Amino acid sequence: MVDKIIKNGKVVTPSGILDIDIAIEGEKIAGLGNFGKFLKAEETIDAKGKLVIPGGIDPHTHFELKFMGAIVPEKWDQASAAAAIGGTTSYIDHAFPNKGEDPMAAVERRAKRAKVASASDFAMMGAFLDFSNLEEIPGKIKELSKKGVPSFKVFTIYRPEGWYANDWDILNVLWGARDIGGVVCVHAENAFVGEEWQKRFVKEGKIEPKYHAKAKPNFVEFEAMQRVISLANFAGAYSYFVHMSIKEGVELVRNERHQGHLVFAETTHKYLTHTEDAYEGKRGRYYLVSPSLRKKEDIEGLWKGIADGSVSTIGSDHAAFSKEQKEASDEFITVPNGSPGVETRVPVMYYEGVTRRNLPITKFVDVVSTNVAKIFGLYPKKGIIAPGSDADLVIFDPDKEKSLDTENLHIGTDWNYYDGVTIKGWPILTMSRGKKIVENEQYIGKPGDGKELFREIKREHLATA
Ligand code: URP
Ligand code: ZN
Ligand code: ZN
Repeated sequence: MVDKIIKNGKVVTPSGILDIDIAIEGEKIAGLGNFGKFLKAEETIDAKGKLVIPGGIDPHTHFELKFMGAIVPEKWDQASAAAAIGGTTSYIDHAFPNKGEDPMAAVERRAKRAKVASASDFAMMGAFLDFSNLEEIPGKIKELSKKGVPSFKVFTIYRPEGWYANDWDILNVLWGARDIGGVVCVHAENAFVGEEWQKRFVKEGKIEPKYHAKAKPNFVEFEAMQRVISLANFAGAYSYFVHMSIKEGVELVRNERHQGHLVFAETTHKYLTHTEDAYEGKRGRYYLVSPSLRKKEDIEGLWKGIADGSVSTIGSDHAAFSKEQKEASDEFITVPNGSPGVETRVPVMYYEGVTRRNLPITKFVDVVSTNVAKIFGLYPKKGIIAPGSDADLVIFDPDKEKSLDTENLHIGTDWNYYDGVTIKGWPILTMSRGKKIVENEQYIGKPGDGKELFREIKREHLATA
């Protein structure tokens, strides 16, 4: 007798898609077996005709973000519940220190908020934004790592926010991370070219959203990536590029990985579906994100990178600014950068990847879940359907049609990249640590049910992500 059985599903495991049943005891997967192997349970869930996948893990969220003079109106409980409805059972949220705040204090502050509000399990991404005391960074990194936060975000851009890190700053973070086997996560754009060019356009009266793309061409991202990779190779540290948007970046990461360097790239589903043409329309300013949206060739390059493993993960970069916030300024340069995506990340990747581009289902699971767990130190607790792992499971109906109009989603904003788009494939049940938290698109858990995840990065897992 076990607590729960999920029977008759097509279960996605590292060995492929298996017709097996899953037995669940308490919070864990107790066993896998041929159909009918487990006879008795408190509850049996029939997944006939459906896929069963490990719960999605979003490596990149910004819940309740304060950025570019605006505060995201969406609340933490709503964002995390929407994530669960879209098949994401864990996420790594960014803990940006306020001015003068220690990175550890920022992690504790954000984790405290998540503990009372989160609909699902969460981890924290440390961040270094202040470099006035470089000598202290290795100590701070050690402290963070001991507390289960072994990955650290830095920005090579956003000087107006005071978030910019120069090469020496980055090298110091890389050294600190190398010493504890941590991962440095980089938002890579050349600040001087990108931001100065933006200002010049505005001075010339070129204030429409399309000038965002013109001020930040591919080269702006590529140059910063190359520079950071040189620094990371020199330091002997692991680097991870968040929301990579360019085909040249895919080639760069592919080459580095061929040379045995542990360099990782994340992209977002939004960069895989939208080009910079989106800036031209009436809604153009809504789509403003950094790096900029790109061209069709970049979309193709990114998909190729996903297929061959050069792109390891998909992050939502969820930053749910409202229409009103996006419309507050006529100048592209002051429109808050960011967009929602936490709820659509997994289903859009299934539809665009598996259904429309023949991406193997196992690869889809790798990029939305398994690789995130491996890179960020959550594996094999999360990111895999195997005995002993947390029973974070999503029953996914590959045939279910779903309109992605914002009114049909559960995020706390009034627009999203996929308004007017209908896809096929949507989760019908989400389970977190053995407990059903979403059924029929309704969140049925309670805010605060999510537990904080303390992470430990293992080289042997990194090497296969
Ligand atoms: O445009 C973006 N990506 N906004 C959110 C902040 C960031 O850079 O990730
Ligand atoms: Zn960023
Ligand atoms: Zn981000």
